[in-house]
Amino acid sequence: MITGKDIAEILGKYNLDKLAIGTLGSHSSLNIFKGAKEEGFRTVCICKEQDTILYKKFPLADELIIVKDFTELLNPALQEKLRILNTVLIPHGSFTAYLSTEQLTDSLYVPMFGNRQLLHWEANRKSQEEWLRQAGLRLPETFKTPDDIDRLVIAKLPGAKGGRGYFLANSPESFYKKFGEMVKRGLLREEDVGKIHLQEYALGVNVYPSYFSSIIKDDVELLAVDRRYESAVDAIGKIPAGEQLEIDVNPTYTIVGNFPIVLRESLLPEFLRMGENVHRKARELAPPGIIGPFCLETVVTDDLKIYTFEISARIVAGTNVGIGTSPYAYLRYGPNMYMGRRIALELKEAREQGRLQEVLA
Ligand SMILES: Nc1ncnc2c1ncn2[C@@H]1O[C@H](COP(=O)(O)OP(=O)(O)OP(=O)(O)O)[C@@H](O)[C@H]1O
Ligand SMILES: [Mg+2]
Repeated sequence: MITGKDIAEILGKYNLDKLAIGTLGSHSSLNIFKGAKEEGFRTVCICKEQDTILYKKFPLADELIIVKDFTELLNPALQEKLRILNTVLIPHGSFTAYLSTEQLTDSLYVPMFGNRQLLHWEANRKSQEEWLRQAGLRLPETFKTPDDIDRLVIAKLPGAKGGRGYFLANSPESFYKKFGEMVKRGLLREEDVGKIHLQEYALGVNVYPSYFSSIIKDDVELLAVDRRYESAVDAIGKIPAGEQLEIDVNPTYTIVGNFPIVLRESLLPEFLRMGENVHRKARELAPPGIIGPFCLETVVTDDLKIYTFEISARIVAGTNVGIGTSPYAYLRYGPNMYMGRRIALELKEAREQGRLQEVLA
């Protein structure tokens, strides 16, 4: 377990005037690097050889460290190199995709922007649900066993990234039929039935608000809102219903991109309160709460109820729609503010005030 004392020791050896912002070369790295450069930081990119074109065409990385695999981040020599470069790491979706929560909290001896302890709350569906419920958010109902299904549910498989293999069912019969088909196709095993998370399907449109919890300003800001462009679910509507039935399509949610959203203004007060409440609850669970970006995954129904089905306590790729600006960042900061830059600004202000350690928990 990496403690505040460990981080303080590492920071003690840093040349803070030469602080660099580093991250893995994927997900939202361009967003992070652009923001870092605009706030005057050097940038360090840990990158796979085949992706270097990205940083040639968009020259935002001052240092490229080539790796075969992102798990090399656990390599002590690589960590030493990052420390020599005075790097603060900005975690994004690829960190949790390639490394386990334990590896991130116990084996990554490089200062990381954010609250490592919250990773445990986020990693597990049950504890995440508890956190969001206690924050007063409305969550889709969950069903203990398939036999309780009395409405449309989404069946989520454990560890299925990007909703791959999720399926819908509206009764115990339809659940077992579809589950049986998945087993036949080798996608699931009989014994997986108990591991499937059954969640009420919230019928509505997806809205993903991205917030920034500032420890330095003691405030939660709404910076951008997006929705996802998912294959194949966003394509199914292009096929006439007759053909849909014939080919028996199931929605899959492989993310291809994101669209910016501007919300109906009357929804904003509730979204703003939700952000505050989630951070306040996090502060109780794992002080000082959320440090930096977080995103709620929500569905808004036709009676304007907001259902939250997930949280990411880090920068999400959806904030890439705001690179340059988003209406909400604009309303608060004027032009040219976005998540990557907001992170860099927080680090800059923390450094100026001698409070860096508070944002590298
Ligand atoms: N309760 C729900 N009601 C309606 N739609 C849902 C619900 N839960 C999930 N979805 C849909 O399924 C998609 C994938 O779900 P979810 O976000 O849980 O998967 P995931 O594995 O966490 O993916 P990612 O890590 O990319 O967020 C969502 O983008 C959303 O469109
Ligand atoms: Mg999700």
